[in-house]
Amino acid sequence: MRRRPRRNRSSIAIRSMIEETQLTSANLIYPLFIEDGQGIKKEIKSLPSNYRWSLDTLLPEMEECIKLGIDKFVLFPAVEERLKDTVASYSYASDNFYLDSIRKIKDNFPQISLMSDVAMDPYSSDGHDGLVKNGTVLNDETLPILAKMSIAQAQAGIDILGPSDMMDGRIGYLRDTLDQEGFTQTSIMSYTAKYASAFYGPFRDALDSAPKSGNKKSYQMNPANKNEALIEAELDYQEGADMMMVKPATCYLDIIHLLKENFDIPITAYNVSGECAMIYAASANGWLDYESSMAEMLLSIRRAGADGILTYFAKDFAKFSKG
Ligand code: PBG
Repeated sequence: MRRRPRRNRSSIAIRSMIEETQLTSANLIYPLFIEDGQGIKKEIKSLPSNYRWSLDTLLPEMEECIKLGIDKFVLFPAVEERLKDTVASYSYASDNFYLDSIRKIKDNFPQISLMSDVAMDPYSSDGHDGLVKNGTVLNDETLPILAKMSIAQAQAGIDILGPSDMMDGRIGYLRDTLDQEGFTQTSIMSYTAKYASAFYGPFRDALDSAPKSGNKKSYQMNPANKNEALIEAELDYQEGADMMMVKPATCYLDIIHLLKENFDIPITAYNVSGECAMIYAASANGWLDYESSMAEMLLSIRRAGADGILTYFAKDFAKFSKG
Protein backbone atom coordinates (compact mmCIF):
# COMPACT_ATOMS: atom_id res chain seq x y z
CA MET A 1 0.00 0.00 0.00
CA ARG A 2 1.51 3.26 -1.10
CA ARG A 3 -1.33 5.29 0.30
CA ARG A 4 -1.94 4.81 4.02
CA PRO A 5 -4.34 7.48 5.39
CA ARG A 6 -3.55 6.35 8.95
CA ARG A 7 -0.08 7.98 8.76
CA ASN A 8 -1.84 11.38 8.92
CA ARG A 9 -3.60 10.30 12.10
CA SER A 10 -0.55 8.94 13.90
CA SER A 11 0.02 11.67 16.51
CA ILE A 12 -1.76 14.51 18.25
CA ALA A 13 0.72 16.89 16.60
CA ILE A 14 -0.21 15.78 13.08
CA ARG A 15 -3.91 15.40 13.83
CA SER A 16 -4.12 18.93 15.18
CA MET A 17 -2.34 20.37 12.13
CA ILE A 18 -4.71 18.86 9.59
CA GLU A 19 -7.94 19.38 11.47
CA GLU A 20 -10.38 20.80 8.90
CA THR A 21 -13.07 22.25 11.13
CA GLN A 22 -12.59 24.67 14.00
CA LEU A 23 -15.26 25.21 16.59
CA THR A 24 -14.89 27.67 19.46
CA SER A 25 -17.23 29.53 21.79
CA ALA A 26 -17.06 32.42 19.30
CA ASN A 27 -19.30 30.37 16.99
CA LEU A 28 -22.00 29.92 19.62
CA ILE A 29 -25.16 31.85 20.53
CA TYR A 30 -26.76 30.95 23.86
CA PRO A 31 -30.60 30.90 24.11
CA LEU A 32 -32.06 32.14 27.40
CA PHE A 33 -35.65 32.26 28.67
CA ILE A 34 -36.93 35.15 30.73
CA GLU A 35 -40.17 35.84 32.60
CA ASP A 36 -41.43 38.81 34.59
CA GLY A 37 -40.77 38.77 38.31
CA GLN A 38 -37.99 38.45 40.85
CA GLY A 39 -35.82 35.69 42.23
CA ILE A 40 -36.95 33.20 39.59
CA LYS A 41 -34.88 30.23 38.41
CA LYS A 42 -37.22 27.46 37.24
CA GLU A 43 -35.70 24.48 35.51
CA ILE A 44 -37.37 23.44 32.25
CA LYS A 45 -38.30 19.79 32.78
CA SER A 46 -37.83 18.69 29.19
CA LEU A 47 -34.61 20.71 28.87
CA PRO A 48 -32.64 20.00 32.06
CA SER A 49 -29.98 22.55 33.07
CA ASN A 50 -31.91 25.29 31.23
CA TYR A 51 -34.09 27.67 33.19
CA ARG A 52 -36.73 30.34 33.09
CA TRP A 53 -35.04 33.32 34.73
CA SER A 54 -36.17 36.69 35.99
CA LEU A 55 -33.93 39.63 35.13
CA ASP A 56 -32.28 39.80 38.58
CA THR A 57 -31.18 36.14 38.45
CA LEU A 58 -30.37 36.27 34.75
CA LEU A 59 -27.82 39.11 34.94
CA PRO A 60 -25.34 37.20 37.18
CA GLU A 61 -25.86 34.09 35.03
CA MET A 62 -24.98 36.08 31.91
CA GLU A 63 -21.94 37.51 33.64
CA GLU A 64 -20.74 33.97 34.37
CA CYS A 65 -21.26 33.00 30.70
CA ILE A 66 -19.40 36.09 29.51
CA LYS A 67 -16.45 35.14 31.74
CA LEU A 68 -16.46 31.73 30.05
CA GLY A 69 -16.18 33.43 26.66
CA ILE A 70 -19.77 33.59 25.43
CA ASP A 71 -20.65 36.98 23.98
CA LYS A 72 -23.78 36.26 21.95
CA PHE A 73 -27.19 35.48 23.45
CA VAL A 74 -30.73 35.09 22.15
CA LEU A 75 -33.49 36.01 24.58
CA PHE A 76 -37.00 34.50 24.59
CA PRO A 77 -39.88 35.85 26.71
CA ALA A 78 -42.37 33.73 28.66
CA VAL A 79 -45.50 35.85 28.79
CA GLU A 80 -48.38 35.47 31.27
CA GLU A 81 -51.55 34.12 29.68
CA ARG A 82 -53.58 37.17 30.80
CA LEU A 83 -51.34 39.48 28.71
CA LYS A 84 -51.88 37.55 25.48
CA ASP A 85 -54.41 38.65 22.88
CA THR A 86 -55.20 37.90 19.24
CA VAL A 87 -53.02 40.75 17.93
CA ALA A 88 -49.99 40.28 20.24
CA SER A 89 -50.28 43.88 21.47
CA TYR A 90 -48.13 43.17 24.54
CA SER A 91 -45.15 42.58 22.19
CA TYR A 92 -44.77 46.35 21.74
CA ALA A 93 -46.48 47.62 24.92
CA SER A 94 -44.51 50.34 26.70
CA ASP A 95 -44.55 48.38 29.99
CA ASN A 96 -43.36 45.12 28.35
CA PHE A 97 -40.87 43.40 30.69
CA TYR A 98 -39.00 41.78 27.77
CA LEU A 99 -38.20 45.16 26.21
CA ASP A 100 -37.22 46.51 29.60
CA SER A 101 -34.94 43.50 30.15
CA ILE A 102 -33.25 44.05 26.78
CA ARG A 103 -32.52 47.63 27.83
CA LYS A 104 -31.05 46.60 31.18
CA ILE A 105 -29.02 43.72 29.77
CA LYS A 106 -27.44 46.02 27.17
CA ASP A 107 -26.75 48.64 29.89
CA ASN A 108 -24.95 46.00 31.93
CA PHE A 109 -23.13 44.28 29.07
CA PRO A 110 -22.72 46.71 26.16
CA GLN A 111 -20.07 44.48 24.56
CA ILE A 112 -22.36 41.49 23.92
CA SER A 113 -24.48 40.86 20.86
CA LEU A 114 -28.07 40.34 21.92
CA MET A 115 -30.58 38.70 19.60
CA SER A 116 -34.37 38.71 19.89
CA ASP A 117 -37.25 36.57 18.72
CA VAL A 118 -39.67 38.22 16.30
CA ALA A 119 -42.92 36.23 16.01
CA MET A 120 -46.38 36.52 17.50
CA ASP A 121 -46.52 33.19 19.31
CA PRO A 122 -45.22 34.18 22.78
CA TYR A 123 -47.81 37.01 22.91
CA SER A 124 -50.69 35.50 20.94
CA SER A 125 -53.78 33.99 22.57
CA ASP A 126 -53.90 31.69 19.51
CA GLY A 127 -50.30 30.55 20.00
CA HIS A 128 -49.48 31.02 16.32
CA ASP A 129 -46.61 33.02 14.83
CA GLY A 130 -49.04 35.08 12.73
CA LEU A 131 -52.48 36.64 13.00
CA VAL A 132 -55.29 34.04 13.01
CA LYS A 133 -58.68 34.72 11.38
CA ASN A 134 -61.28 31.96 11.03
CA GLY A 135 -58.63 29.29 11.50
CA THR A 136 -56.25 30.73 8.88
CA VAL A 137 -52.86 32.31 9.63
CA LEU A 138 -52.89 35.54 7.63
CA ASN A 139 -49.68 36.69 6.01
CA ASP A 140 -49.79 40.36 4.96
CA GLU A 141 -51.89 41.39 7.96
CA THR A 142 -49.18 39.94 10.25
CA LEU A 143 -46.36 42.04 8.81
CA PRO A 144 -47.27 45.39 10.46
CA ILE A 145 -47.48 43.62 13.85
CA LEU A 146 -44.03 42.09 13.37
CA ALA A 147 -42.76 45.54 12.35
CA LYS A 148 -44.12 47.20 15.51
CA MET A 149 -42.52 44.45 17.61
CA SER A 150 -39.22 44.88 15.76
CA ILE A 151 -39.12 48.65 16.15
CA ALA A 152 -39.87 48.29 19.88
CA GLN A 153 -37.00 45.79 20.20
CA ALA A 154 -34.66 47.98 18.18
CA GLN A 155 -35.53 50.97 20.38
CA ALA A 156 -34.75 48.85 23.45
CA GLY A 157 -31.27 48.23 22.03
CA ILE A 158 -31.38 44.77 20.48
CA ASP A 159 -28.42 44.10 18.17
CA ILE A 160 -29.88 41.35 16.01
CA LEU A 161 -33.56 40.78 15.23
CA GLY A 162 -34.52 37.13 14.77
CA PRO A 163 -37.73 36.82 12.75
CA SER A 164 -38.79 33.22 13.41
CA ASP A 165 -42.33 33.50 12.04
CA MET A 166 -41.90 32.37 8.39
CA MET A 167 -44.39 34.90 6.94
CA ASP A 168 -43.67 35.75 3.28
CA GLY A 169 -42.01 39.09 2.65
CA ARG A 170 -41.26 39.88 6.28
CA ILE A 171 -37.53 40.46 5.89
CA GLY A 172 -38.00 43.21 3.29
CA TYR A 173 -40.89 44.69 5.25
CA LEU A 174 -38.87 44.78 8.48
CA ARG A 175 -35.72 46.10 6.77
CA ASP A 176 -37.66 48.98 5.17
CA THR A 177 -39.43 49.86 8.42
CA LEU A 178 -36.19 49.75 10.43
CA ASP A 179 -34.40 51.96 7.92
CA GLN A 180 -37.28 54.47 7.81
CA GLU A 181 -37.16 54.70 11.61
CA GLY A 182 -33.39 55.23 11.59
CA PHE A 183 -32.34 51.77 12.77
CA THR A 184 -29.95 51.18 9.91
CA GLN A 185 -27.48 49.38 12.18
CA THR A 186 -29.94 46.84 13.60
CA SER A 187 -29.12 43.52 12.02
CA ILE A 188 -31.54 40.80 10.86
CA MET A 189 -30.79 37.10 11.22
CA SER A 190 -33.64 35.48 9.35
CA TYR A 191 -35.03 32.09 10.30
CA THR A 192 -34.80 31.37 6.57
CA ALA A 193 -35.36 27.62 6.35
CA LYS A 194 -37.43 26.83 9.40
CA TYR A 195 -39.06 23.44 9.22
CA ALA A 196 -42.32 22.27 10.82
CA SER A 197 -40.39 20.04 13.19
CA ALA A 198 -41.27 17.74 16.07
CA PHE A 199 -38.03 18.84 17.75
CA TYR A 200 -39.43 22.14 19.12
CA GLY A 201 -41.37 20.36 21.88
CA PRO A 202 -39.21 21.30 24.91
CA PHE A 203 -39.05 24.95 23.75
CA ARG A 204 -42.85 25.15 23.64
CA ASP A 205 -42.95 23.60 27.14
CA ALA A 206 -40.51 26.25 28.30
CA LEU A 207 -42.65 29.13 27.07
CA ASP A 208 -46.16 27.58 27.12
CA SER A 209 -46.28 28.71 23.49
CA ALA A 210 -47.73 25.70 21.67
CA PRO A 211 -50.48 26.58 19.15
CA LYS A 212 -53.94 26.44 20.76
CA SER A 213 -55.33 24.72 17.67
CA GLY A 214 -53.93 23.26 14.49
CA ASN A 215 -50.22 23.16 13.68
CA LYS A 216 -47.65 25.39 12.00
CA LYS A 217 -47.48 23.54 8.67
CA SER A 218 -49.06 26.37 6.64
CA TYR A 219 -46.02 28.55 7.31
CA GLN A 220 -43.11 26.39 8.51
CA MET A 221 -41.51 24.22 5.84
CA ASN A 222 -42.16 20.59 5.01
CA PRO A 223 -39.22 18.46 6.29
CA ALA A 224 -39.29 16.61 2.95
CA ASN A 225 -38.31 19.71 0.97
CA LYS A 226 -34.94 20.99 -0.08
CA ASN A 227 -35.53 23.16 -3.17
CA GLU A 228 -37.90 25.26 -1.14
CA ALA A 229 -35.01 26.20 1.17
CA LEU A 230 -33.26 27.74 -1.84
CA ILE A 231 -36.38 29.74 -2.72
CA GLU A 232 -36.66 31.02 0.87
CA ALA A 233 -32.95 31.88 0.91
CA GLU A 234 -33.10 33.68 -2.43
CA LEU A 235 -35.95 35.85 -1.13
CA ASP A 236 -34.34 36.60 2.25
CA TYR A 237 -31.06 37.46 0.53
CA GLN A 238 -32.77 39.87 -1.87
CA GLU A 239 -34.88 41.34 0.93
CA GLY A 240 -31.77 42.25 2.92
CA ALA A 241 -31.19 39.56 5.55
CA ASP A 242 -27.72 39.94 7.10
CA MET A 243 -27.53 36.26 8.09
CA MET A 244 -29.65 33.23 7.22
CA MET A 245 -30.53 30.45 9.62
CA VAL A 246 -31.46 26.80 9.12
CA LYS A 247 -33.59 25.23 11.85
CA PRO A 248 -33.40 22.54 13.23
CA ALA A 249 -29.73 21.77 12.64
CA THR A 250 -28.75 18.11 12.93
CA CYS A 251 -31.57 16.58 10.88
CA TYR A 252 -30.99 19.34 8.30
CA LEU A 253 -27.22 19.32 7.78
CA ASP A 254 -27.79 18.98 4.03
CA ILE A 255 -29.77 22.23 4.05
CA ILE A 256 -27.03 24.06 5.96
CA HIS A 257 -24.52 22.82 3.39
CA LEU A 258 -26.78 23.82 0.50
CA LEU A 259 -27.19 27.40 1.72
CA LYS A 260 -23.50 27.74 2.56
CA GLU A 261 -22.56 26.64 -0.97
CA ASN A 262 -25.02 28.99 -2.65
CA PHE A 263 -24.89 32.24 -0.68
CA ASP A 264 -22.10 34.52 0.41
CA ILE A 265 -23.63 35.85 3.63
CA PRO A 266 -23.13 34.07 6.97
CA ILE A 267 -25.21 30.94 7.53
CA THR A 268 -26.28 29.95 11.02
CA ALA A 269 -28.14 26.96 12.42
CA TYR A 270 -30.41 26.45 15.41
CA ASN A 271 -29.52 23.33 17.37
CA VAL A 272 -33.06 23.20 18.74
CA SER A 273 -34.44 22.11 22.08
CA GLY A 274 -35.42 18.57 21.02
CA GLU A 275 -31.97 17.86 19.61
CA CYS A 276 -30.33 18.93 22.86
CA ALA A 277 -32.97 17.10 24.95
CA MET A 278 -32.00 13.80 23.29
CA ILE A 279 -28.41 14.19 24.46
CA TYR A 280 -29.42 15.40 27.93
CA ALA A 281 -31.71 12.39 28.36
CA ALA A 282 -29.31 9.80 26.97
CA SER A 283 -26.41 11.07 29.04
CA ALA A 284 -28.53 11.25 32.22
CA ASN A 285 -29.18 7.55 31.65
CA GLY A 286 -25.51 6.83 31.16
CA TRP A 287 -26.10 5.83 27.53
CA LEU A 288 -23.96 8.62 26.02
CA ASP A 289 -21.04 10.64 27.30
CA TYR A 290 -22.43 14.18 27.58
CA GLU A 291 -19.30 16.20 26.91
CA SER A 292 -18.06 14.33 23.86
CA SER A 293 -21.45 13.67 22.26
CA MET A 294 -22.59 17.29 22.48
CA ALA A 295 -19.22 18.53 21.19
CA GLU A 296 -19.47 16.10 18.25
CA MET A 297 -23.02 17.26 17.49
CA LEU A 298 -21.91 20.90 17.43
CA LEU A 299 -18.87 20.06 15.31
CA SER A 300 -21.06 18.32 12.72
CA ILE A 301 -23.22 21.45 12.38
CA ARG A 302 -20.12 23.57 11.92
CA ARG A 303 -18.61 21.11 9.42
CA ALA A 304 -21.84 21.23 7.39
CA GLY A 305 -21.17 24.96 6.96
CA ALA A 306 -22.71 26.89 9.84
CA ASP A 307 -20.77 30.01 10.83
CA GLY A 308 -22.83 30.40 13.98
CA ILE A 309 -24.82 27.91 16.05
CA LEU A 310 -27.64 28.69 18.45
CA THR A 311 -27.40 25.98 21.07
CA TYR A 312 -28.44 25.18 24.65
CA PHE A 313 -25.00 23.55 24.99
CA ALA A 314 -23.18 26.90 24.64
CA LYS A 315 -22.35 27.37 28.31
CA ASP A 316 -21.25 23.76 28.86
CA PHE A 317 -19.19 23.77 25.67
CA ALA A 318 -17.45 26.95 26.80
CA LYS A 319 -16.85 25.43 30.24
CA PHE A 320 -15.45 22.17 28.90
CA SER A 321 -13.29 23.80 26.25
CA LYS A 322 -11.73 26.05 28.91
CA GLY A 323 -10.81 22.80 30.61
C1 PBG B 1 -41.23 30.49 17.83
C2 PBG B 1 -39.92 29.78 17.98
C3 PBG B 1 -39.82 28.39 18.17
C4 PBG B 1 -38.46 28.14 18.39
C5 PBG B 1 -37.77 29.35 18.31
N1 PBG B 1 -38.70 30.36 18.03
C6 PBG B 1 -40.85 27.33 18.26
C7 PBG B 1 -41.88 27.20 17.23
O1 PBG B 1 -41.75 27.63 16.08
O2 PBG B 1 -42.92 26.65 17.59
C8 PBG B 1 -37.93 26.77 18.69
C9 PBG B 1 -36.57 26.66 19.30
C10 PBG B 1 -36.26 25.36 19.95
O3 PBG B 1 -36.98 24.35 19.84
O4 PBG B 1 -35.22 25.31 20.62
N2 PBG B 1 -41.38 31.52 16.99
